[in-house]
Amino acid sequence: MSTDPCEIKLKRVPSRKRSRDGVRSHLTPKKNVSSSETPAGEEELKTYFEDPESLFGSVDMKRKPAFLSSPPQYCSDHEDLFGDYDSILGDCSFMARLEDVEQDAKRQSTEKALEGSSAVDQGWGGGLRSSSPAFGALKTAGDHSRTTCGEGHAESDTMSGLNNKLHEDIPSSQSVFQQEVFTGTERGDTSTPVEKATGEHHIPDGSAERQGPKPHARWSMTDRMKRAMLENASAPSPSISKLAAWKEAVMTEEMDAAANTVQTVSSEIDLGPFYGLPTKVKDLIANLRGIKELYDWQKTCLTLDSVQQRRNLIYSLPTSGGKTLVAEILILKELLCRKRDALLVLPYISLVQEKVRGLAGLGLELGFLVEEYAGSKGRYPPVKRRNKKSLYVATIEKAHSLVNSLVELGRLESVGLLVVDELHMLGEGSRGALLEMTLAKVLYISKSTQIIGMSATLSNVEDLQRFLKADNYTSDFRPVQLVEYVKLKDTIYEVHPQEDDCFQFSRVLNFKYSSSMQKVDPDHIIALVTEVIPAHSCLLFCPSKKNCENVASMICKYLKKDFLLHREAEKAVLLQELRSSGGGALCPVLQATVPFGLAYHHSGLTNEERKLVEEAYTAGVLCLLTCTSTLAAGINLPARRVILRSPYVAMDFLKRSQYKQMIGRAGRAGIDARGESILILQEKDKLLVKQLVSSPMESCYSQLMHDNGKGVHSLILSLVGLKIARTLEQIREFVLGTLLNVQESHTCPERKLWDITQDSLEFLRQKGLLKVSKDCENNLVLEVTSLGRATYKGSIDMTYCDILYRDLSKGLDSLMLNSLLHLVYLVTPYDMVSQCKPDWMIFFRQFSSMTAAEQKMASGVGVPESFVARKAAGQTLLSYNHIKLITDPTVAARLYLALVLFLLVKENSLWSVANRFQLSRGFVQSLLSSASAFCSCVLHFTEELEEFWAYKALLTELTRRLTYCVRAELIPLMEVAGVLEVRAKQLYNAGYKTLSHLANADPSLLVQTIQNLSRKQANQIVASAKMLLTEKAEALQEEVNDLLALPPDLPSF
Ligand SMILES: Nc1ncnc2c1ncn2[C@@H]1O[C@H](COP(=O)(O)OP(=O)(O)OP(=O)(O)O)[C@@H](O)[C@H]1O
Ligand SMILES: [Mg+2]
Repeated sequence: MSTDPCEIKLKRVPSRKRSRDGVRSHLTPKKNVSSSETPAGEEELKTYFEDPESLFGSVDMKRKPAFLSSPPQYCSDHEDLFGDYDSILGDCSFMARLEDVEQDAKRQSTEKALEGSSAVDQGWGGGLRSSSPAFGALKTAGDHSRTTCGEGHAESDTMSGLNNKLHEDIPSSQSVFQQEVFTGTERGDTSTPVEKATGEHHIPDGSAERQGPKPHARWSMTDRMKRAMLENASAPSPSISKLAAWKEAVMTEEMDAAANTVQTVSSEIDLGPFYGLPTKVKDLIANLRGIKELYDWQKTCLTLDSVQQRRNLIYSLPTSGGKTLVAEILILKELLCRKRDALLVLPYISLVQEKVRGLAGLGLELGFLVEEYAGSKGRYPPVKRRNKKSLYVATIEKAHSLVNSLVELGRLESVGLLVVDELHMLGEGSRGALLEMTLAKVLYISKSTQIIGMSATLSNVEDLQRFLKADNYTSDFRPVQLVEYVKLKDTIYEVHPQEDDCFQFSRVLNFKYSSSMQKVDPDHIIALVTEVIPAHSCLLFCPSKKNCENVASMICKYLKKDFLLHREAEKAVLLQELRSSGGGALCPVLQATVPFGLAYHHSGLTNEERKLVEEAYTAGVLCLLTCTSTLAAGINLPARRVILRSPYVAMDFLKRSQYKQMIGRAGRAGIDARGESILILQEKDKLLVKQLVSSPMESCYSQLMHDNGKGVHSLILSLVGLKIARTLEQIREFVLGTLLNVQESHTCPERKLWDITQDSLEFLRQKGLLKVSKDCENNLVLEVTSLGRATYKGSIDMTYCDILYRDLSKGLDSLMLNSLLHLVYLVTPYDMVSQCKPDWMIFFRQFSSMTAAEQKMASGVGVPESFVARKAAGQTLLSYNHIKLITDPTVAARLYLALVLFLLVKENSLWSVANRFQLSRGFVQSLLSSASAFCSCVLHFTEELEEFWAYKALLTELTRRLTYCVRAELIPLMEVAGVLEVRAKQLYNAGYKTLSHLANADPSLLVQTIQNLSRKQANQIVASAKMLLTEKAEALQEEVNDLLALPPDLPSF
């Protein structure tokens, strides 16, 4: 079996050669093997990799993955995978937290009693304000009738979860407590409404209360629990047989209910009049989205056989076709009717945040949770919820980690529906590979999970159908007609892709240019944009970031002064906000263009600036954005006219899919009667553009082989690590289900997929990530090594796992802790190094301002001051190599980036740091977010390696610091989807200091007190805060339940 020698030479550091420096690990099988990890002998290994069938029989595929003792945490490469973010922010004990929840609930119930009136459901706005948000979470779903209760409400709500627990395993000693509580409430010891075991609720008349409570009826939940715990310690187990009988009865009841549900679902009886949903959903969609009637295609799609019979489905329609709504209705069906969780995968963090904000209101009204998995948010594994179902809205990276964590715990079946928006992302590099891995795992493991994929730009849909075993629905419906034009010299041609002469004369552009203007604007951009702005909106796609800024500035110079008057006051507020987002600094280009209603939009803007610009554009305050192609697939910002400055992105000619996405922004449904796109072209590109507008869409190909087959390597490592496949036979079976296999002849024409798989196994073995050992029945099985486990759990790129191990080991010898620089250096992402060349003068200045300890640390990692000084003086490496100052330039560059991060962590503003290092603020921000992501990955990596135990506490805190480089008091507000630093500051200054403040805020008051906040945004902030609070409270409730549950493996007679 051969492995590409170059590949191994470049990337491999054999484990036995890895420097341990006294840190003894169990990475080298020979030196440290546990009995269960006994590696096969060399001979067996050789035979195994050459002829697996001679050694293996197949292993039972249905076997559940092992339940690990500690909950796993996953991370992925490009995203911040910040598992268990709550635990980072709050380290109070369970009892303390319980006490907090209880106090809060008591306070709220008292307030409610004082108000003396129940909250009334008043549709959307009223709905947000109705019912106790902080504690509503602790109620059973749909229990709105109980909001009027007075004293004892808090206890009752907390107890309702405990009563529910009676349906489940209860330790015999625990039952003393449980029964007392249960009978206590049944007897009406308090005025608390009782939730019976049947799930029915009734409101007692309070007579029991009037008779006076029993002696401990007023005990707090915490007291009861403490008492119960004491009793538990001494209680014998007398009631076990009674309990067992009772449990059996409950179980039978539950199984009957489950059987009924299954019957109902399979007989496809509509559970509600609106595509199986209650009419309330229809009303909410009308109120929240303004959509009163579904498009015909949407109706057809929702009643397709595939949908009814829950087969996998791919549907493709042009941009703006209304694909999202169909997916949302299917998700609601899954959550509300089938009562299973759903996972919605979107390609960008901004889209996830937008969707979480948009769905929070629906979730609150309909009683499901919306959980955000993007940026630094998301919990692995997700909290297991008994009462409510969850919709996980995730980026591709987070979805992959989420699925892994569910697989590991054998919980994947809890996800009933997986929806992938922009399915063509399967063909996009490493993210495409991750998406393919996620889908392949779901297909392989959870036969009951339905997969829905949607896209506007799919050509080889048959391949994807075969991969997903899916039906296909296609329509070319577009609610707003899109007319395509090209402009050549001063003539506009309408595009008719079907016809021989696809450019047909439309008109001659009417403009009066002076000669100087003609020189500055030879493409007549000003004439094209002024035909639509300021009355309508316009997007102008440019080939580069710099070009966006230049074109925006150029247009402003020639615009009439009248433009300044259009929505003048709002533009002034926008400028103010932009300035405060930069801590007083404002980009000079935006300063000049915003008063005219123009702005540029590209990755050089900070997240805050981008959001402010997007909001102002959506509101019509800005009428023209000059942007790069990234805007095309990001947030939904439609325009009356879309102009493409040239058919290039940087130096590359546009792809058909890029072109379609860009022009697809034209025409707003419900606002514009039609949309138009104009591509400016030069004579030399005419033929290419003809092909561009008339050729079919590019095909979407598997990316598992992308970047030297990294996808295949990490797929196999995680398959073995997650125990999805442990023999070659099982691995073969799995890879047969990938898109790569479907497209084998195209994607890897020279080698068979099976050869690639075997080479990959050998690669992983040689790299010390995979080994062969014997299972309990003495069969040889594949197993990940400790380093392998750490690598896939931390989602560490295999190129860097050895280097990371080496750096961290070295760090243990000499970690400098009197400054954060050393730790920051250790988590500076390796893959960002190539994106930034150090400015040696700046480096030298920064180096000189470091403390002696920091300089010593720099020297320790291999970058002495003399090296930086010589580079700053312009000397080349050659001229001083003879004095043995051989410093690895990539290590020096990494230290340079670490210095940038170090300053940011010290709470210097992004702008001042960007200025000091002469970097764009967008780059500095993306460095920061990838460092916080990587820090979280390194944390998970170290958690799997005993020798790195000391890093856990350090990296947990560092992740928090890197994630929120803001004042600590703003962090709770910034946890709410879409609340960035500027908005958090505004809210904080207006008195909204906690999540609870926001969740209970009156949206109308917010609009009045917070500058430049629309009613819609205020509603969304309040709804998102309510949702987050509910989610946190429910998580605590689940923790209570888990703590009080009977351990399944409790020894008993
Ligand atoms: N039945 C409907 N009636 C009126 N408007 C609708 C309807 N369905 C969807 N829309 C609106 O149409 C617009 C575009 O819908 P959507 O974002 O779902 O498009 P899409 O097909 O996903 O497009 P893209 O491929 O660009 O993402 C949205 O503003 C949405 O609210
Ligand atoms: Mg869409």
